Amino acid sequence: MVTTESSLAKNPLLEGMRLEKRASPFAMVILGAHGDLTKRKLIPALYALYLEDLLPKDFAILGSSRTKMTDDEFRGVMKDSVQKFASDLNFQEDSWGEFAKSLHYLAADVMKPEGFTMLSDRLQELKQEHSTQGNHIFYLSTAPSLYTPIVKGLASSGLATKAKPNQVPWPRIIVEKPFGHDLQSAIALDEEIHDVFSEHQVYRIDHYLGKETVQNIMVLRFANGIFEPLWNQKHVDHVQITNAETLGVEGRGSYYEEAGNLRDMVQNHLLQLVSLVGMEPPISLDPEATRDEKAKVLKCLRPIDPSEVDQYAVRGQYGAGHILGQTVPGYREEEGVSDQSNVETFTALKLYIDNWRWAGVPFYIRSGKRLAKSITEIAIHFKSAPHRLFSDSLDSVLDSRPEPNVLVIQVQPEEGISLKFATKQPGQTNQLRHLNMDFKYGTAFGVRSATAYERLIHDCLMGDPSLFSRTDQVEVCWKFIRPVLDAWSDKSRKTNFPNYAAGSWGPLASDDLIASTGHKWRRL
Ligand SMILES: NC(=O)c1ccc[n+]([C@@H]2O[C@H](COP(=O)([O-])OP(=O)(O)OC[C@H]3O[C@@H](n4cnc5c(N)ncnc54)[C@H](OP(=O)(O)O)[C@@H]3O)[C@@H](O)[C@H]2O)c1
Repeated sequence: MVTTESSLAKNPLLEGMRLEKRASPFAMVILGAHGDLTKRKLIPALYALYLEDLLPKDFAILGSSRTKMTDDEFRGVMKDSVQKFASDLNFQEDSWGEFAKSLHYLAADVMKPEGFTMLSDRLQELKQEHSTQGNHIFYLSTAPSLYTPIVKGLASSGLATKAKPNQVPWPRIIVEKPFGHDLQSAIALDEEIHDVFSEHQVYRIDHYLGKETVQNIMVLRFANGIFEPLWNQKHVDHVQITNAETLGVEGRGSYYEEAGNLRDMVQNHLLQLVSLVGMEPPISLDPEATRDEKAKVLKCLRPIDPSEVDQYAVRGQYGAGHILGQTVPGYREEEGVSDQSNVETFTALKLYIDNWRWAGVPFYIRSGKRLAKSITEIAIHFKSAPHRLFSDSLDSVLDSRPEPNVLVIQVQPEEGISLKFATKQPGQTNQLRHLNMDFKYGTAFGVRSATAYERLIHDCLMGDPSLFSRTDQVEVCWKFIRPVLDAWSDKSRKTNFPNYAAGSWGPLASDDLIASTGHKWRRL
């Protein structure tokens, strides 16, 4: 029988706010539970939620993959993983022992129908054993090629059913990235999913959106009076978004050969950051209100004409070089990578948001592996002061020229915000210095920040999809990058790969891309 949850008060002021922090009883099935993501992120996140008392009393976690293991063996592997990958958690034998009572394992192959029959039977047993009330979350943590067989298997075994909002018991599905390989496959996957789940049951995970600073972009913009009046083409000169990693492909060469940097980072994470920086204020904190605004701004991205791809996009691939004093091999020497590979490990894009707020303001994005430093940040470069009052009274020291203000939102490794501004250096002259006003999450609050997976899994348990990508956002992002993907997969177009050394800041063409509109990448 279908009943409805009434977890939100009817007070309209509270609409969209989570009043309950603890989720209803549930069973979460992790498909691909023998994999890297489960060990590194998912089980540590669930254990952290347990320690924070954010899980209900009654819950079950059922890991499943083909490897044969008993429940106890699975618990042992997960315990080792939590100790290895979540050293910041207050691991204790007692709390782990209690948590692990809810951990179970089922060896099953998602390519075989009997796998889903076993899954359905096991979930019935767990419903009795842990009083899960039949609420199910299916976490797709397998290779993306298995998403469609899994959705079909869940449907044919009756585990996936379309539900009304607020219906209980609820089935939900979390889909890991990448969501599709291109526009066509993303639409096809969506159709498969929508055959058996309604959109409100689908949680497409983009772990960038679970990061504390990323969520803080909305608070910074819309809870402070001073930024929003400046947040437009009248005052912002340009925006730079950088995602730089010193790491290479780390044993995931064969995955990367299929994906490449544009699909792996830009289509999802970085365009989501663009939408958060560029969106209009939502009318409320209701999840759909926020997602509407994000989708709206993404729809304003100026399409790249296929004949002009080179004016808007630069690709690169690293050769051998030095990172932090170590010699590292080039991409083509990595395991699982072809020695003729033309897959990009670096992307730089110039894009424009054609709307009232952002007309004419370039947004520059760069993302790459094996760069000089690991850092992800968003830098809002404001226009210079209209009149250079101080320039005449200065000797011609380069550093003394007034520089534009820059507001930097640092996403990783350290989460924080800083504002660069000019100040007078003490002394008899009007010598200017440019200083940063810094806010760091770690030191300001002195508490451990929840990981992105903790936040996102908890949101899914609470039925809050605000931080998950909606189908129209995913589609519009694929549509936007399609001309670049098409051009870069055209074998008749020559590459000069490798075109940057590991440990550098990417190919020179990326500097030219941004210089062509009068700008320079930040030195980080
Ligand atoms: N790892 C990360 O940090 C990360 C980050 C972001 C996104 N993701 C995404 O998350 C997903 C999982 O990544 P991962 O790194 O955990 O992958 P993975 O290490 O390859 O794990 C996937 C697991 O799926 C299981 N599997 C394979 N075929 C199966 C089948 N026919 N039936 C049932 N289980 C099967 C395998 O275990 P058995 O051999 O035992 O079956 C394997 O261990 C991917 O889509 C990835 O793109 C991963």
